[in-house]
Amino acid sequence: MKLIFLEEVDSTNEYLKRVEFCHGLCVVAEKQTGGKGRRGKKWISEKGKGLYVSFMFSPISYQIASLSSLAFGVAVLNVLKTLDKRFYLKWPNDIYINGKKISGILPELLSDRLIIGIGINLNYTRDELSSLEVPATSLFAEKIPFDKHSILDKLILEVENYYELLKKKAFNVKEFEKNCPLIGKEVSVIEEHKQFNGIALGIDTNGCLVVEVEGKIRRLFSGNVSIRL
Ligand code: BTN
Repeated sequence: MKLIFLEEVDSTNEYLKRVEFCHGLCVVAEKQTGGKGRRGKKWISEKGKGLYVSFMFSPISYQIASLSSLAFGVAVLNVLKTLDKRFYLKWPNDIYINGKKISGILPELLSDRLIIGIGINLNYTRDELSSLEVPATSLFAEKIPFDKHSILDKLILEVENYYELLKKKAFNVKEFEKNCPLIGKEVSVIEEHKQFNGIALGIDTNGCLVVEVEGKIRRLFSGNVSIRL
C-alpha cells in the first residue's frame, strides 16, 4: 500500500479521482473542506478531530464492487473492536456504538477503479456532533482511549486483508450478519421516500438485505433501515 498524507484536501475520495490510476494507493487527510457522506450528505471533517482516509483499488470485478461496502465495513469494525467490544454494524456500512453512528464508508465505483472512503469520528465533543441529522458520537465522547496512528496502521492491514478475501471470492456475508443487530428483527425501511415495515431475514450473496414484507421477500440494494421499537 502506498500512503499519501495531506494537511488539507476537499475530500480524500475526490483526491483519488484526480490522481493517475494507481492500485493500492491510500490517502489520509488531517482536514477535509468538502467531506462527503452517502446520498449527497456532508461529512463533518474538522482538523484533527477524525480519521479521513480513502483507498483506491483497480481493476475491479463485479464481485469485489458489490460486496465491498460490507467487507470494508467489517474491516473497520474489526479495528474498532480492538478498542471496545460494543461496536456493531448497521447495514449497509455504518458502524455504531450505543445507538449512535461513529463511522461511515463511502464506496465510489468509477469505470476503472473503486474508491473506498472511510471516516471515523475521533475527537469530536457531543456538542460538535449534536447538530448532525443522525445521532452521532466519537471515541472521545464515548470515553474510549485510542491512538490515531495505531488505528490507521490496523485499518490499512484490515482493508488489505478484506480486499484479498474479496478478490479470492472468500468474503462471507455471515461475518457482516453476525455483527449486525438488525438481522432477525422487525425493521422499518425507508427506500426512495417510501416507508414500510418487515422482518430483516439476512444478507444475500450480492450484499442485499433480504426483508420479508407482508409475506413477500424483498431484496434491498440500499435504503435506511432501523429496528422497530
Ligand atoms: C457516510 O456514512 O455517509 C459515509 C461517510 C464517509 C466519509 C469519508 S471521510 C474520508 C472520505 N472522504 C470523503 O469525502 N468521504 C469519505
